[in-house]
Amino acid sequence: MVRFFTAGESHGQGLIIILEGVPAGLAISEDYIGVHLARRQKGYGRGGRMLIEQDRAKIISGVRHGLTLGSPIGMTLENKDWANWEEAMAIEPLDGPPQSPRTQRVTRIRPGHADLPGAMKYGFEDVRNVLERASARETAARVAAGAIAIKLLEEFGIQIHSHVLSIGSINAEPPETIDWAAVEESPVRCSDPDAALKMAAEIDAAKEAGDTVGGTCEIIAENVPIGLGSHVSWDRKIDGRVTQALMSINAVKAVSIGLGWEIAGQRGSQVQDVIEPVTDPDNPWRRKTNRLGGTEGGMTNGMPLVARFVVKPIATMVTPLPSVDLDTGEEVLAHFERSDVCQAPPACVVGEAMVALILADAFMEKFGGDSIPETRRNFEGYLKTVGPRKVY
Ligand SMILES: Cc1cc2nc3c(=O)[nH]c(=O)nc-3n(C[C@H](O)[C@H](O)[C@H](O)COP(=O)(O)O)c2cc1C
Repeated sequence: MVRFFTAGESHGQGLIIILEGVPAGLAISEDYIGVHLARRQKGYGRGGRMLIEQDRAKIISGVRHGLTLGSPIGMTLENKDWANWEEAMAIEPLDGPPQSPRTQRVTRIRPGHADLPGAMKYGFEDVRNVLERASARETAARVAAGAIAIKLLEEFGIQIHSHVLSIGSINAEPPETIDWAAVEESPVRCSDPDAALKMAAEIDAAKEAGDTVGGTCEIIAENVPIGLGSHVSWDRKIDGRVTQALMSINAVKAVSIGLGWEIAGQRGSQVQDVIEPVTDPDNPWRRKTNRLGGTEGGMTNGMPLVARFVVKPIATMVTPLPSVDLDTGEEVLAHFERSDVCQAPPACVVGEAMVALILADAFMEKFGGDSIPETRRNFEGYLKTVGPRKVY
């Protein structure tokens, strides 16, 4: 079982990640994880924190001489801005009256955030006690864990990509074959250069208006073997696991597999993916289309796994919405905490991490093994059995 935990507040000393279930013998380095953390930090329309962060995960356990040990992998991500938050986020009770304005209670609730339900649920009088952990800063920890899952999947030929399909009212028209290197260079992670320019203008316009803008992301996992997940129990279905993982990302409001919502108006004959006769024994069970996004009956079907999700326009705005004060219930302007204008491009990278973590879990569930060679033997043995029954 591949599973992970994160801990840490947005402005605390740092984030902690524990990732368990990775077999021994996987080559991993802080540099490799750093590449993925840097990808999350890019993106047109991101705010000031990205300039401070420059994340680097420090591996503190589970890896020796560049290879995983099979033991839990522990990592930390330091908060580079900690010096400015030491008092506000101190672990120990304060000695005297607060010196830093950052220590002041936050009571001006921000609609669209965890502020109100979190303060009520946990009985807090300071919204900071909620917003620090609810912040999408936590997604950096997911990306660190996800980088190792991506490396594990790459070991078995599985590749994960992501791109932005829409920002605000601008929709991309992705080409038949996506140039992923170009997507990495695009400030809005878009495969359609014309749409990318319009998306950047849309972000500029929202920023000019003191507002924010959302978008749609697509995650594509290629070379996924047939049979990850299972039809036998609801919580083992791969589509359910992937969509839950994506929905758990901050600000995600809709998730779909394949054509998703577009399917509603189609006829049955237009929606299924016809299976082609097997001509290549190394590549059986190809489909003419991939409308269902690579899953059938809660299992991967050998086609690329395609998942989409919608990120809402973020709630913290330079021109704040009217809100209420936690103490008095009276109308005030919502609290403003440093914020981005559009988080769709970085959300793509977080989405990749979450899909990778789910696929890695399902992969290890199917193939098991305590070391990479053992997992490989199991994987290759299985692949030999995947084909027309009278031939294989
Ligand atoms: C990568 C990323 C960055 C985000 N940055 C911000 C931000 O700067 N400001 C903000 O208000 N919300 C931001 N969010 C969204 C909030 O964290 C999220 O809307 C909030 O925690 C409430 O959760 P919910 O929208 O899922 O209900 C970001 C989300 C992601 C995925």
